[in-house]
Amino acid sequence: MASSLITSVRLLLVLLFLLVGVPLSAFASFSPLQHDSSSTSSSDASQVYIVYMGSVSEVSTLDMAVNSHINLLSSSLGKSQEAARRSLVASYHKSFSGFAAKLTQREAQAMKGNPSVVSVFKSQKKQLLTTRSWDFVGLTASSARSPTVESNLVIGVIDTGVWPENPMFNDTGYGPVSSTWKGECMLGDNFTIHNCNRKLIGAKYFKAGIEQYGPLDNTRDFISPRDNNGHGSHTASTILGSVVEGADLYGLAKGTARGAVPSARLAIYKVCWAYGCDDADILAAFDEALHDGVDFLSISLGSFFPVLYEEDSIAIGAFHAMQRGIVVSCAAGNSGNSMWAVNVAPWIITVAASSIDRQFYSPLTLGNNVTIKGTAINTFVMEDKWYPLIPAAEGTFDNSTDDLNFCDVGALDPKKVEGKIVFCEEGGFGGVDESVVEGGGKGLVYSVEEDSVAFAFLLSASLVGYAEGEQVYKYINTTSEPVAKLLPCEVSTKEEAPLLAYFSSRGPNIFTPSIMKPDISAPGVDILAAWSKNDSITEYPPNLDPRRPDYNIISGTSMATPHVTGAAAYVKSIRPHWGPSFIKSALMTTATPFDPSKDANKDLELGYGAGQINPTKATDPGLVYDAGYSDFVAFLCTHGYNSTTVALITGETNTYCPKETTTPAILNYPAIFGAFTLDLKGDWYTTSRILTNIGDPSNLTYTGKIDVPTGMEVTVEPMSLSFTSFNETKSYNISIRALGLGVGTTRVLSTALIWYNEIYSVRTPIVAYLVTF
Ligand SMILES: *[C@@H]1O[C@H](CO)[C@@H](O)[C@H](O)[C@H]1NC(C)=O
Ligand SMILES: *[C@@H]1O[C@H](CO)[C@@H](O)[C@H](O)[C@H]1NC(C)=O
Ligand SMILES: *[C@@H]1O[C@H](CO)[C@@H](O)[C@H](O)[C@H]1NC(C)=O
Ligand SMILES: *[C@@H]1O[C@H](CO)[C@@H](O)[C@H](O)[C@H]1NC(C)=O
Ligand SMILES: *[C@@H]1O[C@H](CO)[C@@H](O)[C@H](O)[C@H]1NC(C)=O
Ligand SMILES: *[C@@H]1O[C@H](CO)[C@@H](O)[C@H](O)[C@H]1NC(C)=O
Ligand SMILES: *[C@@H]1O[C@H](CO)[C@@H](O)[C@H](O)[C@H]1NC(C)=O
Ligand SMILES: *[C@@H]1O[C@H](CO)[C@@H](O)[C@H](O)[C@H]1NC(C)=O
Ligand SMILES: *[C@@H]1O[C@H](CO)[C@@H](O)[C@H](O)[C@H]1NC(C)=O
Ligand SMILES: *[C@@H]1O[C@H](CO)[C@@H](O)[C@H](O)[C@H]1NC(C)=O
Repeated sequence: MASSLITSVRLLLVLLFLLVGVPLSAFASFSPLQHDSSSTSSSDASQVYIVYMGSVSEVSTLDMAVNSHINLLSSSLGKSQEAARRSLVASYHKSFSGFAAKLTQREAQAMKGNPSVVSVFKSQKKQLLTTRSWDFVGLTASSARSPTVESNLVIGVIDTGVWPENPMFNDTGYGPVSSTWKGECMLGDNFTIHNCNRKLIGAKYFKAGIEQYGPLDNTRDFISPRDNNGHGSHTASTILGSVVEGADLYGLAKGTARGAVPSARLAIYKVCWAYGCDDADILAAFDEALHDGVDFLSISLGSFFPVLYEEDSIAIGAFHAMQRGIVVSCAAGNSGNSMWAVNVAPWIITVAASSIDRQFYSPLTLGNNVTIKGTAINTFVMEDKWYPLIPAAEGTFDNSTDDLNFCDVGALDPKKVEGKIVFCEEGGFGGVDESVVEGGGKGLVYSVEEDSVAFAFLLSASLVGYAEGEQVYKYINTTSEPVAKLLPCEVSTKEEAPLLAYFSSRGPNIFTPSIMKPDISAPGVDILAAWSKNDSITEYPPNLDPRRPDYNIISGTSMATPHVTGAAAYVKSIRPHWGPSFIKSALMTTATPFDPSKDANKDLELGYGAGQINPTKATDPGLVYDAGYSDFVAFLCTHGYNSTTVALITGETNTYCPKETTTPAILNYPAIFGAFTLDLKGDWYTTSRILTNIGDPSNLTYTGKIDVPTGMEVTVEPMSLSFTSFNETKSYNISIRALGLGVGTTRVLSTALIWYNEIYSVRTPIVAYLVTF
């Protein structure tokens, strides 16, 4: 069976488009992984369910946990001990309690009735959703660092595993590992004890998903922490890769590769296989990672569309992480659609992807000497001569009825295509570059809606926008012997940056609309980082693509997420005593605002959140919004949850909601988000926030400043906050209304409240959104 692992934007786009029934994306083709043969089970068939039993007061041994889970299964379902043992898939016992088991729908229902069970939900599949990028966000090689503290930070990455021999995981010069670290390395296929070192200090793999998707095939998956895909090595090295001079992809993007915190240590938790990433394994990874002692968790994977917090392994695992002071950053998703942002629980940092000031051009020159600046990560150099240029429809087999330029695999006739540059258009069933290579073509010009993200192809190629595509087509149409040249790839500076990536999923948070999502943006377009030596740069199999470099350049919110994890770890290395809410607040209030007038940024905060991370500035924000366990519980209690349903997330059966509360509790979130209906847009939405003073000096006065756009009104009370001591808190009230919503096409209006003085500037986004769901 082929994998459904999403390693970059293109695949997710395919699958999403399949779901919503519009034509397949241009990028459908590039992966061999698009056929998902996992069968859908009927209600009688067994499926893997997660039986979540809440938090644990003390860690039990695996044997004890397994035995008690078998007993529970057997007593609740009247199964023999042996049958119960066979149905058990995974046991969680270190950081929270529960298990995964193969159950029928009826059995799952019966398990729900057991008093020690908090919740039962189906284990579902999730997808995986730089030399320059750290410099671009202001964290340069010469930024102040605290290597000693940094070297005690452990970053957990839940992903596809790691390629330990990559130079970015070289441990030369690293000191001994802290004695508090409890993690270890699991050995397996091509992974020995020597693959772990003072940098890669933990490596575990979880494969309960085989109970649903069938056995692992060791020609497709290393049954070990080794990464056969590249995604996990890429994300991990972005966070903490060692400094490597002269890293590049066949000469492209050459520079010094490094992570944000090169001295920090890596613990990899492999949960993604050719079959995808299963909830049961993700939860197992959390259980282990929290117990092992990670300080951060970076999770570049998610479901297609948002999943209720209480049925989402990531939301539940992240809640336990937050309770333990662990920062969790997750990708917002690659659908590009509004309301499709995933991983939106308030205790997670939800990350959007944006561009940096670098673009990979692969220009195309037509026979009339017009040059079109297409994009592509083109590692090939074509002979400098004119090649015949044909539209794909003219290159199809004689018996083909296809008169479109879709370049489907197997559509092109070598007799017509050999040695030519082929013009293809978006809309087919994928494999565009494969199709041209099979037809013997020399080059590809590919007309797509979005040409802002560069991809690698199997041959020299140039991605052009629709307008340029028309221009090419017109040239072909009006020329008797059309010819073209594809010029070598050039990497140049792009002044317009950052722009939100078109694929980055937009908010709002459909479950708790008063919480702004995504939270923040980070570079996620054309990012160079470590790759797996067992995967090609296009992810095509070796017969089609033999290229196996140490680095690859890929795009996705998957690539943005490790930038936020890295930024958070950098802040922690400078401010070791800060907890998750301080770090999140600091990152958000110091983020660099996007230019809202740019077309790519038109969804405003719903696209980019608070702005682009600024790691160095985040180490000294002046004021922070604090929030912890009890604040999240109080918030949930008045936002659609009650004592019973809150426990589905916290796992604490004794976290009761305050009785009869009707006033919605306010979560001290570093953004203010008013969700208005058309009826109520004229009413004031009032909320409040509390700021904690961590500035230096501690006796500063902050003045509030706010510029509102037409159609929006905001009042803030008071407009001046005077602090006299460190750690002092002050609150303010804020009211917004937005009569401009629903006028014309206006769905969102936004501004920011800035608390400033001569030293600090604390920026809080303020958003008014028209709810139509
Ligand atoms: C690790 O880095 C050191 C120092 O730069 C170098 O001497 C060594 O060869 C590297 N090891 C590997 C496996 O690349
Ligand atoms: C993995 O190990 C096998 C058996 O030792 C060896 O033949 C193979 O080359 C190794 N593969 C990689 C990618 O290192
Ligand atoms: C690793 O790559 C080799 C060569 O491409 C291939 O034969 C093998 O099946 C791959 N192994 C895994 C586990 O992906
Ligand atoms: C294109 O430019 C070349 C070199 O400058 C020139 O020789 C040629 O005539 C030009 N062709 C057209 C169609 O303008
Ligand atoms: C069309 O022709 C090609 C080559 O002549 C052949 O391989 C293919 O099977 C034919 N397809 C159909 C649908 O007849
Ligand atoms: C190309 O030519 C065909 C027929 O000559 C015509 O129908 C078509 O509209 C032309 N397309 C463009 C883009 O010029
Ligand atoms: C809590 O909410 C759930 C679902 O909304 C509902 O079924 C249940 O009756 C509620 N429980 C209490 C104690 O109100
Ligand atoms: C703040 O404190 C410093 C030193 O403690 C003092 O010099 C300064 O005058 C104080 N500023 C204000 C505005 O009170
Ligand atoms: C700051 O205040 C909080 C809550 O009042 C307290 O728990 C914490 O210890 C204080 N921190 C410092 C550094 O004084
Ligand atoms: C905010 O509003 C509440 C309710 O009107 C009021 O009690 C409180 O004093 C106000 N707080 C501030 C800081 O103005």
